[in-house]
Amino acid sequence: MAAGKKYKILFVTSELFPFVKTGGLADVSSSLPQELSELGHEVRIVVPRYGAIDTRKFKIHDVVRLKNFSLKLGEKEALFSVKSSFLPVSKNRVQVYFLDNEEYFGSRKSLYVDILKGTWYEDNYERFTLFSRGVLELVKKLGWAPDIIHANDWQTALVPAFLKTNYQNDEFFAKCKSLFTIHNFVYGGEFAPEAFASTGLPDAFKSDDFIIHNGRMNFLKAGIKFADHVNTVSPGYRNEVLNDPSMTNGLATFLAGKADAFSGVINGIDKGVWNPATDKFIVKNYDLKSIDNKSVNKKNLVERFGFTFDAALPLFSMISRLYDYKGIDLVAEAMPELMKLNIQFVLLGTGEMKYKSMFDEYSKKYPSKFACYLGFNDELAHLMEAGSDFYLMPSKHEPCGLNQMYSLLYGTIPIVRKTGGLSDTVIGIGSGEPNPTGFVFEEYSAQALIEKVKAAVELYKRKDEMLALIRNGMKCDFSWQLSAKKYTELYKKVYSA
Ligand code: GLC
Repeated sequence: MAAGKKYKILFVTSELFPFVKTGGLADVSSSLPQELSELGHEVRIVVPRYGAIDTRKFKIHDVVRLKNFSLKLGEKEALFSVKSSFLPVSKNRVQVYFLDNEEYFGSRKSLYVDILKGTWYEDNYERFTLFSRGVLELVKKLGWAPDIIHANDWQTALVPAFLKTNYQNDEFFAKCKSLFTIHNFVYGGEFAPEAFASTGLPDAFKSDDFIIHNGRMNFLKAGIKFADHVNTVSPGYRNEVLNDPSMTNGLATFLAGKADAFSGVINGIDKGVWNPATDKFIVKNYDLKSIDNKSVNKKNLVERFGFTFDAALPLFSMISRLYDYKGIDLVAEAMPELMKLNIQFVLLGTGEMKYKSMFDEYSKKYPSKFACYLGFNDELAHLMEAGSDFYLMPSKHEPCGLNQMYSLLYGTIPIVRKTGGLSDTVIGIGSGEPNPTGFVFEEYSAQALIEKVKAAVELYKRKDEMLALIRNGMKCDFSWQLSAKKYTELYKKVYSA
């Protein structure tokens, strides 16, 4: 156990692995608290109890004294209760609370998007206002005053705002400081200004200096303005957002105003979950000494997708939300060219309807070359990381990105665009740096992507060179230990400020 003050940390998040996940935030929300508790801190997590969470499977139970909370959302009264469980994978039994309200969370199978309409739920501002105020009421009821509240993304951005306004004179929170982590600026949490009324924040803050941005209510701005410290998930992305106002919808000015109270901390990965030597979801485990076993996974994977296994064909994979900022527009444009190559390509993901139908069409047109699974499938994601030769991640912007790190550790060579966390974690062949681990291209164009895929096809024929790259990747250290120490330093900085 490391020396230094141990903090009481309340980690507030809108998704949490293994209970409920749509993206990397869920992974971080599970692994960072675990690592922090290894360092001796007392961490408790709060997440909404969505209908998608299997309460029975995860032994989530009611707590008698955590029932019948009531809050005002503007004119409406919202009731909620809190359920309890632990992170199943944690050694130190990290406590998890689930904020439960049937209307806003329990009745929703999906987290943020109305699946039937294909649009965001219209009442997202109310849902996450309830969540953000609810967590403060929860800790008061528990009598557990956190030293730090660590909020994540727009869904919890109002927590720092409430602390500095409605709860400012509340003795209970007198020493409590806040850290706000932005995992992606693409999601701003923007709503019509009328949404402000339901927050219950003092009217004085309904202005451009605080929560209104370009005429809209902006949750991220609230977090940026009120948190004691703001960070994002890689140093590279931090610098990009400061230098390119279009990436933050103009919020960069306020970030720059925070000076060194805005930092970049790269995520780690959870080796208890993502490790080819122990992964339970893959067909054959392997490590640096038994890389040959990887091909057993490849065979299983291609057959699962209905292809014929041919060791001479390189297998490319991609696991992604199907949105432009992930570079899906490049992949779409590159598809005709990629389908002329002697490759196999599998894709897992969900997102924009136009991309779902497009990929579906391609899988019908090229059944021996391209296949996709249009949805979430965690188990399949593991097998894809283990069974593929190359992994595509051509993101336009990537705050951190976890799949490129999973790929490296699974001996699957990443092909990434030089942006944010991707450029912080993948060393490009030909970059002049020692021990390259993948392909890195800079220009955001389908052509640049196609060129790297072609280079990968060539590399696949040069077995020794390919193996050297794989080995470099598998030797990378992306453990959370380092990042958790950086977060501890941040906690220390804000707590003692
Ligand atoms: C978001 C970002 C991704 C990051 C993850 C965890 O999903 O898009 O880059 O890895 O959050 O921080």
